[in-house]
Amino acid sequence: MSDAVKVGFVPFSAAPRGVLVAFADETLKFGPATRKALGGAVETVKRAAATARFKGKNGSVLDLLAPDGLKADRLIVLGTGKTADLKDEDYTKLGGAIAGRLKAGSEAVTILAELADGAMSPGHGAAIAAGVRLRAYRFDRYKTKKKDDDGKLAAAVSVAVADVAASRKAFASLASVVDGVLVARELVNEPPNVLFPAEFARRAAQLRKLGVRVEVLDVKAMTKLGMGALLGVSQGSAHDGRMVVMRWNGGKRSVKPVAFIGKGVCFDTGGISIKPAGGMEEMKGDMAGAACVVGLMHALAARKARVNVVGAIGLVENMPDGNAQRPGDIVTSMSGQTIEIINTDAEGRLVLADVLWYVAKTFKPKFMVDLATLTGAILVALGTDHAGLFSNNDELSERLSKAGLATGERVWRMPLGPEYDKLIDSRFADMKNTGGRNGGSITAAQFLQRFVDDVPWAHLDIAGTGMGAPATDINTSWGSGFGVRLLDRLVADHYEGRR
Ligand code: BES
Ligand code: MN
Ligand code: ZN
Repeated sequence: MSDAVKVGFVPFSAAPRGVLVAFADETLKFGPATRKALGGAVETVKRAAATARFKGKNGSVLDLLAPDGLKADRLIVLGTGKTADLKDEDYTKLGGAIAGRLKAGSEAVTILAELADGAMSPGHGAAIAAGVRLRAYRFDRYKTKKKDDDGKLAAAVSVAVADVAASRKAFASLASVVDGVLVARELVNEPPNVLFPAEFARRAAQLRKLGVRVEVLDVKAMTKLGMGALLGVSQGSAHDGRMVVMRWNGGKRSVKPVAFIGKGVCFDTGGISIKPAGGMEEMKGDMAGAACVVGLMHALAARKARVNVVGAIGLVENMPDGNAQRPGDIVTSMSGQTIEIINTDAEGRLVLADVLWYVAKTFKPKFMVDLATLTGAILVALGTDHAGLFSNNDELSERLSKAGLATGERVWRMPLGPEYDKLIDSRFADMKNTGGRNGGSITAAQFLQRFVDDVPWAHLDIAGTGMGAPATDINTSWGSGFGVRLLDRLVADHYEGRR
């Protein structure tokens, strides 16, 4: 993984050489430790700011080379805007914005983690460090000719803080979450000839190193369980499907687990209802939901979260073939409910149907959240800035929405109801796998709801957010790792025992 940058914490007194980064507010004020570090250069900065019309607006940058009166070779002044307006997620973004200014092979970098009012909590300093690492990630494993620009971002990034020990402590768990995000991104970015179901399962099994119990079910085991919906999707592929069940037991034994379920379609051609050629390569990312679940399990286990969690992913490849399933086929799901296949490209819901049912029945979890690149329609509805949220439970929805605002991985609740549900009734079976063009994301969610029993459940349609979204301050890679920080936050805020 190309997360080359090393991030650490130092006291403000460390003499900064190389690149120095300072924060200024909208009055161009610096905090006291920053003023001290800048010394005689403060006047240089004021002149430069006036010339460049730098006003300290949030996200704006003043970049000075070899500034007079300073040991550092380069000074980057980052505007924060009004200190009082900064939200938690903004600190991560500031870190990302800094990393975005650093070229390959930069010298050592020191970030003066102090706002204009002289304050910055250890948690916010740690968030800056996390932002640097998130932005520094790039997926370049398959590039054999590296350009000058493709190298490491910087030798080392030091975040200068008031309390080094407290900052390190705050960063310890945050770094595990960053690792989880990068694990998810890496899986989404991998090409589909490399990352087929068995290989994906092998990578998920690496979680054992962190103390996660990992069980891999093959076709034989899934046949025994009666998972006709998942297996129907998988039957046209030369690569056998898998289901992976991951368990992290960090909570009290008696406490019911929470559960996360991911769609892992390693490649979605559409099957016999084949997709058009344009852009089909993007369907290597149709396992972003499963990738998020693996990344989340990584994060929770690595930071030793005090919670019992189940992660379950259905891994298949949706291919057209002599053995592939046909429109008109009727399959029997593990729940016993029968499904008429109308369109073999509506495969994700078939995979999830069996995994959701399996998790509901086997673990009777406190709640289930599934993540899936389920419908193109959610892109039409919400674009790439919000994931679609569908749920049978208001409390869970509220908590997810709040976690979304806190992390910047935002979700938007969409409706469910019997009017939509009846659109997937079938003439020949208990239901059909598509409900027509209108409300396509909703009828897909209605389908899933038929397999959750009465477990509190939320479905996140991440077709717009999990991959291919425009670059942001904290991500320039195609796979975003969307959902890891969101769900880590959900767990941390509501489902962990007291520390
Ligand atoms: N994996 C796709 C959804 C998708 C589309 C994800 C674009 C990411 C970007 C899913 O399996 C699919 O093909 N859905 C169909 C459903 C339809 C056949 C009812 C769709 O959205 O067109
Ligand atoms: Mn499809
Ligand atoms: Zn799909």
